[in-house]
Amino acid sequence: ASSSSSTAAGTPINPSIKKQEAKVVDTVLISDLRKPLQAYCRCWRSKTFPLCDGTHAKHNKETGDNVGPLLLKK
Ligand code: FES
Repeated sequence: ASSSSSTAAGTPINPSIKKQEAKVVDTVLISDLRKPLQAYCRCWRSKTFPLCDGTHAKHNKETGDNVGPLLLKK
């Protein structure tokens, strides 16, 4: 196996969010967006998940990763 597939098999992407659930799914109604620009977390480390709180910057600095949010624009 390649190193990337062993990493994928051994390390969860999600370290702590809703671990009691079989699958974490969030639904966003576009009509409910109140801000013209809203950032949604894709690093699974935000304290305000599913919204981005900027924690990805710390994760990227510590690991050399390059993850960032999904931006929804009105
Ligand atoms: Fe996760 Fe920003 S905190 S993408």
